[in-house]
Amino acid sequence: MSGRLAGKVAMITGAASGIGKRTAERFIAEGAKVLLTDIQDAKGEEVAKSLGGSAAYRRADVTREEDIAAAVAEAGRRFGPLDILLSNAGIRGQGATPIEQLDMAAWDRAMAVLLRSVVYGAKHAAAVMKPRRSGSIVNLASAAGLVAGATPHDYSTAKGAVVHFTKGLALELGEFGIRANAVCPGYTITPMVLEGLGIGAQAIEAEPAKVDAAFAAVHPIPRVGRVGDIADTILFLASDESRFVNGQAIGVDGGLSAGAHWSGHRGKMAGIRTSLAADG
Ligand SMILES: NC(=O)c1ccc[n+]([C@@H]2O[C@H](COP(=O)([O-])OP(=O)(O)OC[C@H]3O[C@@H](n4cnc5c(N)ncnc54)[C@H](O)[C@@H]3O)[C@@H](O)[C@H]2O)c1
Repeated sequence: MSGRLAGKVAMITGAASGIGKRTAERFIAEGAKVLLTDIQDAKGEEVAKSLGGSAAYRRADVTREEDIAAAVAEAGRRFGPLDILLSNAGIRGQGATPIEQLDMAAWDRAMAVLLRSVVYGAKHAAAVMKPRRSGSIVNLASAAGLVAGATPHDYSTAKGAVVHFTKGLALELGEFGIRANAVCPGYTITPMVLEGLGIGAQAIEAEPAKVDAAFAAVHPIPRVGRVGDIADTILFLASDESRFVNGQAIGVDGGLSAGAHWSGHRGKMAGIRTSLAADG
């Protein structure tokens, strides 16, 4: 299918890499005009160039409100008023740190990149979308925003807040024809995850089956997530096909956020039975 975003103007943050990059490619293939933004300028320019005249790149640090405001304005000047905002830029956070050793400067940094950025995006996109009574805002959250403990505190707290903020936005903006939804990926092979694992991209590309096997225990669908899995869901939410979908946080995680299956508790229950039987 093509033309699912024909005539639409989109802006994507963090579009130089990973999920943002793949989504930009999908949006363009479906007929949208896309302003890609990021802080990796060389990569962003290169991606935009590869996508042709319906794409352009502009630097926007998502922690700076003025950058987001200027990018929304530029999308308007170049392509027309914004129909779709994908707030996607992100970082990993400070990793597994015991609560008493949390680095609060790193905490603030994570909140700025992962949460304030999403608020800035919605604020400036809504200003353009509201008078036109139309728009779709998609925020990148995470399975870690749906269940606690999937990642360390800063990342999961920020993503949980993105889910909550998105629902609030949907309640506020629905009457103006603007929808807001969040996408919540599981472990997805992108530079962010590879960096976290300390693995090179080449190794992954060379042995996809080995990567799936390594991630088999993490997701109920026993493989790792791929950027196309996430981009396809974002595309649905950006397009008019999801015209009555609003205020949802959709897990694209192979079932990870659905809960813990009882079979996983079997070993623990057997241990409890044995220890109680021994005591009795
Ligand atoms: N990969 C996963 O497993 C996974 C899982 C759940 C959620 N996510 C979320 O998906 C989104 C995309 O991540 P990804 O996995 O594609 O990672 P990625 O590292 O490939 O892409 C993130 C992009 O954000 C950009 N960025 C970082 N800080 C920025 C800033 N201050 N201003 C502007 N751009 C900035 C980076 O330069 C990069 O291009 C993030 O919000 C991430 O938290 C990813």
